[in-house]
Amino acid sequence: MGTGRLRGKVAVITGGGSGIGQASALTFAAEGARIALVDRDRSATEATVQRLRADGHDGLALVGDVGDESTVHAHARAIAAHFGGMDVLLAAAGWSTGRSVVDETLADWSAVLTTNLTGSFLWARSAVHAMRERGGGSVILIGSQLAFAGGQSNAAYLASKGAVVSLARSMAVDHAADGIRVNVLVPGAIDTPLLRRAFARVQEPSKAMARSVARHPLGRLGTAEEMAKAALFLASDESSFTTGACLMADGGWLAG
Ligand SMILES: NC(=O)c1ccc[n+]([C@@H]2O[C@H](COP(=O)([O-])OP(=O)(O)OC[C@H]3O[C@@H](n4cnc5c(N)ncnc54)[C@H](O)[C@@H]3O)[C@@H](O)[C@H]2O)c1
Repeated sequence: MGTGRLRGKVAVITGGGSGIGQASALTFAAEGARIALVDRDRSATEATVQRLRADGHDGLALVGDVGDESTVHAHARAIAAHFGGMDVLLAAAGWSTGRSVVDETLADWSAVLTTNLTGSFLWARSAVHAMRERGGGSVILIGSQLAFAGGQSNAAYLASKGAVVSLARSMAVDHAADGIRVNVLVPGAIDTPLLRRAFARVQEPSKAMARSVARHPLGRLGTAEEMAKAALFLASDESSFTTGACLMADGGWLAG
């Protein structure tokens, strides 16, 4: 049971149909937030919102692509109509192709950047407009330990995540006076469908997973629920003096 740290808040969660976004939706709702859940996977979006409602929470399902400007505008209007505003944005939609630059296609490079970076920009821009009217809010973007440490065969993904960190810092400076805090959650390797797909792409998935586990000083993968708790800190007033920060929730990856 939650302790009401987001009581009365409206939280928008992109990529909320799976993994870190889904766990955050459940955690934020348990802390009293009303949830607008955005994902391009219709059945995952609707199933997650049904779960929220079954637990007695208010949830709005919004199906569509975070990289499409007119879709984001339509979703933002639906959120304003349903909830009357926005207090928290967690931009968790993301994906990767798992290729080096020589193997990457321009189409897939652009598609990764469009979701991971442009999707963060479009939703963050909508959030700033909505949060200004409320006198403030908390924007959380999702980076990656690999934005700081490098990593094999993931050029477009790493480029997008490095840019997300810079986007958050830039927004933190620009919108501090609006009462809007902007931070980056930096996960390590988290056991979600995205990570399982990444392991499945390489020749020996179980060895890749073992290498990843060993790379974390804590000696295991992280869980989506652990990321949700870190995101909750950034979403809530407990992080009221934190903006432009990268919260490393990476099992020690970047320290080791
Ligand atoms: N899992 C990890 O190890 C890990 C590590 C570092 C960072 N991250 C980041 O955390 C975030 C969440 O990842 P996850 O592991 O929970 O992944 P996931 O695949 O479990 O969930 C991502 C969700 O985003 C949705 N999505 C993807 N592209 C979209 C788009 N264009 N429009 C709307 N929805 C879209 C998917 O349908 C999916 O439901 C991503 O930004 C990812 O890069 C994950």
